Amino acid sequence: MINIKTQVGIIGAGPSGMVLANWLKKHDIDAVVIELRSREYVEGRVRAGLVEQNTKDILKELGLDARMKKEGIVHDGVYLSFDEERVHIPFGELTGGRTITIYGQQEITKDLTDAWLQEGGELHFETMATKIVDFDTKRPKIHFEKDDEEGILECDFVAACDGFHGIGRKTLPKKSFHSYDITYPFSWLGILANVAPSTDELIYAYHENGFALHSLRSETVSRLYVQVDNDESVDNWSDDRIWSELSQRLAAPGFDLEKGPIFEKSITPMRSHMIDSLRSGRLLLAGDAAHIVPPTGGKGMNLAIADVKHMVDAFVAYYKTNSEKLLDTYTNDALRRIWRAQDFSNFMTKLFHKQDAHGSFTYRLQKAKVDYLKVSKAYRTTIAENYVGLPFESFKN
Ligand code: FAD
Ligand code: DHB
Repeated sequence: MINIKTQVGIIGAGPSGMVLANWLKKHDIDAVVIELRSREYVEGRVRAGLVEQNTKDILKELGLDARMKKEGIVHDGVYLSFDEERVHIPFGELTGGRTITIYGQQEITKDLTDAWLQEGGELHFETMATKIVDFDTKRPKIHFEKDDEEGILECDFVAACDGFHGIGRKTLPKKSFHSYDITYPFSWLGILANVAPSTDELIYAYHENGFALHSLRSETVSRLYVQVDNDESVDNWSDDRIWSELSQRLAAPGFDLEKGPIFEKSITPMRSHMIDSLRSGRLLLAGDAAHIVPPTGGKGMNLAIADVKHMVDAFVAYYKTNSEKLLDTYTNDALRRIWRAQDFSNFMTKLFHKQDAHGSFTYRLQKAKVDYLKVSKAYRTTIAENYVGLPFESFKN
């Protein structure tokens, strides 16, 4: 039996778990991280790319933004496309200089993991948390399995940063929260391709064939997505078919889509999931463990890291001033931003995906919104400020 003791036991070495570990270290609060998967798996998992302003500010404050500053690509705007017509949303101008950066989630995770391990932080890969107990006492315990051996991580607090399929949410007492779910009737097929991006800024496009998104990772790697049916398989999508759909859906006067070899294809279902309590006793949840937003608008990882900011504030207040006030307000402090992001992600999803026949009432409402965007600076500002992420101060009571 392995026995480990620490102050904060963290389950999950995704963005939320690793930001938390590094941030606590800055405040001399001990933490130990356990992660189900191998380091190679976590660092190779292709997911988010859009890093909003608050996340950049947090990584800068932690001194962990050097590589992102060097290799990430700052974007000062986005193109919203509807029936082959583009509307440009200039972020800086509409939000007082706030921007987003394109930098892969796995690169952020790599930077955070390297920093943690270099500073001597304890992180156990290929270790599965199996049970969280005694979180209604002052000494909760995480039971785990590593290399066929059982272990117990004893701590003051458990931070469940273990994603949608983790054990954190399943451990919360059922009666302590309500849950909310939407399953959208479409999914995203995402690709990475060795080809220079055909655009200087991201393009979100509604087309009668369905949604498409042109994103990127570097000057030589593009990241693109197409709306597909929920029962689709990547096997039905040859490279030619993908490029042909992308070319049609992203079309606009004067725009040509460069094609290149595709080296990664995967399908992601689209859902919204929400619970309205992120804490029970000394068990606190952050990130995908507590909420899923559909990816349109790129909010998931950013929200996960925003939850961690509130969690760190609460732990610092507890350890430095013996105050439980911020632990008590953790759920509500985090929920205000989470609901805002749920709404924005749902709005962006419904605006740009094909939901009903071209020309239907739903289509007309989508088009009316985009026509309004063209004439209203107020509406463009609403999109810009949500897209780059509202400052933390906006959510103070
Ligand atoms: P995760 O990254 O899921 O990490 C949880 C970790 O916990 C995992 O490593 C897992 O292995 C581990 N774990 C689970 N169970 C256990 C256990 N029992 N014991 C030990 N460890 C466990 N977000 C954005 O902000 N911007 C974007 O542009 C964006 N684009 C996206 C595009 C796609 C296609 C997808 C699928 C998602 C996108 N997201 C985006 C969402 C983003 O990737 C997630 O919200 C983010 O990964 C959440 O981070 P997390 O740390 O909460 O959870
Ligand atoms: C990316 C993903 C998103 O969901 C999004 O809205 C923008 C960009 C990306 O992977 O680059």
